[in-house]
Amino acid sequence: MSGVTDVPFRQLAWELGAGMVVSEMVASEALTTGQEEMRLKAESAGLPVHIVQLAGRQPGWMREATKLAEGTGAGIIDINMGCPSKRVTTGYSGSALMRDLDHAMTLIDAVLETTSLPVTLKMRLGWDAETINAPELAARAESAGVAMVTVHGRTRNQFYKGTADWSKVSAVRERIGIPLVVNGDISDAESARRALIASGADAVMVGRATYGAPWVPGQIGAALNGETGHKKPAGGELLTLVCRHYEKMLSLYGIELGIRNARKHLDWYCAHLTDFPIERRREMMTSKEPKVVLRLIRSLFADLPDAREAA
Ligand SMILES: Cc1cc2nc3c(=O)[nH]c(=O)nc-3n(C[C@H](O)[C@H](O)[C@H](O)COP(=O)(O)O)c2cc1C
Repeated sequence: MSGVTDVPFRQLAWELGAGMVVSEMVASEALTTGQEEMRLKAESAGLPVHIVQLAGRQPGWMREATKLAEGTGAGIIDINMGCPSKRVTTGYSGSALMRDLDHAMTLIDAVLETTSLPVTLKMRLGWDAETINAPELAARAESAGVAMVTVHGRTRNQFYKGTADWSKVSAVRERIGIPLVVNGDISDAESARRALIASGADAVMVGRATYGAPWVPGQIGAALNGETGHKKPAGGELLTLVCRHYEKMLSLYGIELGIRNARKHLDWYCAHLTDFPIERRREMMTSKEPKVVLRLIRSLFADLPDAREAA
């Protein structure tokens, strides 16, 4: 997820039991032309599992970006055909590709021809309710050599409105034999079970439910496998997690950008606080001094009595 699943976040989610973690969407053209922001997004920085998601509209850029992603140590290349944002779709990338499957296939072929790594594909149900073509795109992708498909159970025109329709993903299941991942509105073991049953998928992908909660995918996986003991980090564990997350961000981005990028994560973690000292929280969110922010994190998250389970 853009702006969320950077290296620090993926490292923590992986440590906390996520089965796979995927980079933020990396624009193939910007990566190829050397944009620093994209380079950081594609960076593995020691991640034990490194999946780079590429977006683009031209086979040439996709080829070049695939080589660069491979050079960062990627183990899997994922292709984005699901992003609904106007900025991306007017550039004819992301979910806009679902309006022209022949063109979409030229991009998939370009990546497959360039790498021997497994290539996976993320998509929506279709552009709108009248053009649900995920089953066709998935079947064509499988024939071309794609190893796994993830489907978000909304159309592009729904953006994030309404609810994800997992049952519509079952039409994709009927067309492909490769692993299928269902996505959209999955936040705990219960919704994961329902999504798997409705879609016939093999696995679930969790997005927004991980905000301030990188342990959620691991918890869901453990619950589905019948394991116990995977609880939401409580008290001191949560404090340690938040501090580590913050320090990792400062070390990846440097002080200035690190402080800015960390703010939304800190804000999300604050949702776990039972007490809500507005002033201290505001200072934590606005301070430009890492030492001050860390002191405030410690004072806010220390001695959290809360041991609620998140899922
Ligand atoms: C802020 C934000 C950024 C996202 N960035 C990406 C992205 O870079 N690549 C991608 O495949 N999906 C991206 N998504 C979509 C999510 O992966 C997911 O498909 C969608 O949020 C539905 O799943 P959820 O209900 O579990 O969040 C993004 C979603 C959000 C809200």
